[in-house]
Amino acid sequence: MPKVSITRRERFSAAHKLWVNDWTEEKNLSTFGGCANPNWHGHNYELFVTVEGEVNPVTGFVVNLKDVSKILKTKVVNKLDHKNLNLDVDFLQNKMTTTEVLAVAIWEEIVSDINKLDCKLTSVKIKETENNFVEYKGA
Ligand code: NI
Repeated sequence: MPKVSITRRERFSAAHKLWVNDWTEEKNLSTFGGCANPNWHGHNYELFVTVEGEVNPVTGFVVNLKDVSKILKTKVVNKLDHKNLNLDVDFLQNKMTTTEVLAVAIWEEIVSDINKLDCKLTSVKIKETENNFVEYKGA
């Protein structure tokens, strides 16, 4: 059977701040720019989760995307949307809230539930701004 990849997009809006406590204010501002704004700032994030599997001969689906979406809503979007990523999110405690770190943390939150469906998680991609994307493939 041919293997096919499918992707579900979810969106969330959240605040964060990139800051290293051991550094001076100047170094934080010059490294992280607007993302080091002392009183927080926000992004409208887009999350793309890709799974791969064989096409079921009866349904014609690799997996029902409603099931993927339900996992993403419960495990990720409901925890991040309209929240402060630095303060409010259990799985981001004590982590830098860069898009890179977020992609790995989201992968780890969803991989076991996704892989219980008839598919395998292959990519977590996050778009933070129009021009910046990050992708984690689990390695
Ligand atoms: Ni930012």
